[in-house]
Amino acid sequence: MEQRKDRRLILFPLPLQGHINPMLELANLLHLKGFSITIIHTTFNSLNPSTHPHFTFHSIPDGLSESEASTKDLVLLLSLLNAKCVEPLRECLSSLLSDVSEEPVACLISDVLHVFTESVAHSLKLPRLVLRTGGAASFAVFAAFPLLREKGYLPIQESRLEEPVTEFPPLKIKDLPLINRCASEDYNQLVAGLSNGAKASCGLIFNTFEHLEQHALATISQKISNVPIFPIGPFHKFFPAASSSSSGLLSEDQSCIPWLNTQAPKSVVYVSFGSLAAIKEAQFLEIAWGLANSNQPFLWVVRPGFVHGSEPFPSGFVESLNGRGHIVQWAPQKQVLAHPAVGAFWTHNGWNSTLESVCEGVPMICMPCFTDQLVNARYASDVWKVGLQLEDGMERFMIEKTIRKLMLEKEGEEIRDRALKLMEKANLCFKQGGSSCQSLDGLVKHILSLEP
Ligand code: UDX
Repeated sequence: MEQRKDRRLILFPLPLQGHINPMLELANLLHLKGFSITIIHTTFNSLNPSTHPHFTFHSIPDGLSESEASTKDLVLLLSLLNAKCVEPLRECLSSLLSDVSEEPVACLISDVLHVFTESVAHSLKLPRLVLRTGGAASFAVFAAFPLLREKGYLPIQESRLEEPVTEFPPLKIKDLPLINRCASEDYNQLVAGLSNGAKASCGLIFNTFEHLEQHALATISQKISNVPIFPIGPFHKFFPAASSSSSGLLSEDQSCIPWLNTQAPKSVVYVSFGSLAAIKEAQFLEIAWGLANSNQPFLWVVRPGFVHGSEPFPSGFVESLNGRGHIVQWAPQKQVLAHPAVGAFWTHNGWNSTLESVCEGVPMICMPCFTDQLVNARYASDVWKVGLQLEDGMERFMIEKTIRKLMLEKEGEEIRDRALKLMEKANLCFKQGGSSCQSLDGLVKHILSLEP
């Protein structure tokens, strides 16, 4: 722990798992650097202060009705939060800023998708930095939506899906970060808010590292040259695994680890599609049989709500595996990916999962569902070449074939080698003198230079 800085930072995560984890990891990093930390969170997906006793927590009422809070429409949810949290946040910040018993507040660090924080912070003359929890490459694409519209890539035409997006190689039109290949008015507004909110900030923080996304980071720096950019990821690797505190909204099933201990090195396919993606029953059955027929051991996270309807395990399916498959509702994912028995990660390519896989040198089977995941998956398969995309459909035989290719064939071996080399690069950046380590020091200096 570095010398106390006599400054308090207020962090405001977006209340979704893939956004909460990196924001709290960033908070831990900045605490380690000597700042006091206050976390503001919504009542929706409220955080548990006892997991981080070294922080101060404040909950603000988000005003979501029961039906609004249970919507499956993510864009609607984010739009509602952006509309309803304005006054509660302003009140909370005002009271924190006027509290003379605490250290002076240096700045607010908000998730960039909390678009409304820009005007609130501005009205209180509070410097505001933003955290983009996704990767830099997808951010660069989001920031280029006006250009992509101008050039006719957007809205997407089904007949052009395989065409390249020449401004963003090797993306194809089908990889553009949308939901079901569409962009609603609300979605476009969020994307514009993400880009404009970053432009209006005092600094843009990424959970990525220079070597991984050098080109995209340079593009962003060029595009918003007035805003300093801090690629200081992978956040979680700055801490020894055992010391990291959980910020999971679901409890982790620790039975995974003793089960993995019984499996051969690099033999297990870990399967998880993050905290939001949901699939149809028919797809679920293809996954189940694809895994079973692959003959590889697998650890599968079937989150509550992952399948529309109930979880329809075919009768006798689990028994038929003879212990070759282990199924849980939520796994200690970072621990799982670091386990020597894990040989591949079948993922939806949420940014956290992608980065966690890169950090452990685990090759991926990529099955992106929506938004930034499509860009992340293309980078994993075609830029870093550490994964195979399931592009030709989700039938069980394609799944089986892809798993075998990655686990048993020559092409898989080459992918595995590249994944290990990339892991070595990831392991350098957070060490003394590494790019993320230096960028973190730059961020600390920058925060201390801000005049509230
Ligand atoms: C969402 C979006 O889907 C994604 O596109 C965006 O990049 C971030 O927000 P999510 O679906 O939650 O992400 O996936 P991801 O970004 O991979 O984050 C999931 C987090 O939950 C990871 O940190 C992962 O380690 C953790 N997790 C997941 C567990 O701890 N256990 C599990 O069983 C599954």
